[in-house]
Amino acid sequence: MTVLKAVAARFGHDFIVSEWPIGASAMRTKGVPLPEETLAACHDADAVLLGAVGDPAYDLAPHDKRPEAGLLGIRKALGLYANIRPARVYAGLEGAGPLKPEIAFGLDLVVVRELTGGLYFGNPRSLDLAAGTAVNTLPYTRAEIERVTEVAFRLAKGRRKKVTSVDKSNVLETSQLWRSVATDIGARHPEVALDHQLVDSCAMNLVLNPTAFDVVVTENLFGDILSDEVGALVGSLGLLPSASLGDGPGLFEPVHGSAPALAGRDIANPIGAIATAAMLLEDGLGLKEEAATVRRAIEKVLEKGARTADLVPRGARALGTREMARAIADEIPAHVAV
Ligand code: IPM
Ligand code: MN
Repeated sequence: MTVLKAVAARFGHDFIVSEWPIGASAMRTKGVPLPEETLAACHDADAVLLGAVGDPAYDLAPHDKRPEAGLLGIRKALGLYANIRPARVYAGLEGAGPLKPEIAFGLDLVVVRELTGGLYFGNPRSLDLAAGTAVNTLPYTRAEIERVTEVAFRLAKGRRKKVTSVDKSNVLETSQLWRSVATDIGARHPEVALDHQLVDSCAMNLVLNPTAFDVVVTENLFGDILSDEVGALVGSLGLLPSASLGDGPGLFEPVHGSAPALAGRDIANPIGAIATAAMLLEDGLGLKEEAATVRRAIEKVLEKGARTADLVPRGARALGTREMARAIADEIPAHVAV
């Protein structure tokens, strides 16, 4: 919000913002993870900016009474089937992650994660702790795979024209369908190169040769797992933004979770959330120049050496969450001096 205010002042916009509870805060105040008023307000909005929802206080709650149920519920209710998770290594952060800098250098990829299907939503599902049995189901239909792979190909056209479709087709029938549909959609986009990788080997290749990837498209759970891996590769999960798009308003949220160990300590990295605001400006409100301004501001503060605690060796001096957000907002002055 600090940075969005700076954008509003700079470009003469007036963003109308209202706040609604979801997840743990909604459980506490309303007794449900996704109150009806929250959902209605999101339906009415041009775009939704979402904070992380998890809270260990609800670790043992049944799955429909957990904070996560609010997030999954809103994704489903808004029909947000395509989750776009771009990741790149910022200049100066080549050595911030576990990769050798020469391997990390130039990493610039997007994970397109299917977000409203697969194991997260499949039925039947059940848990009987006493009996020691549990079931989850991984269903996909052709239509569900088509629309998300289509998003991936369209995205690739504006990038390096390469799509990697990730599945586990050597074991799972769902993945055989996935691979077949991705191949069909790929045939409609002959200018984009398509390759298929099994998820296990993709996980390895992301570490061995991350710059070989451009757009990665995959089902819900594989995308969840691979995008955290990519977070580590770029230096910190705290850097990654995401946009969840469907047919109505988009929902924009950083890839990271609520990080309960960091909550309230003013040490979390706000860049993932700020880069998410840039995606909201561009993909949610159609404000391209404003989005580019935010991205440049992030790059500038990093070039100047600003780092939060997740990006420096333990004990080294780092900016707090608010200081980092302020530093980025300060790169977006209301009036440029002449
Ligand atoms: C994410 C998160 C969520 C997910 C959790 C909080 C339900 O990990 O957005 O990646 O698994 O989708
Ligand atoms: Mn995740």
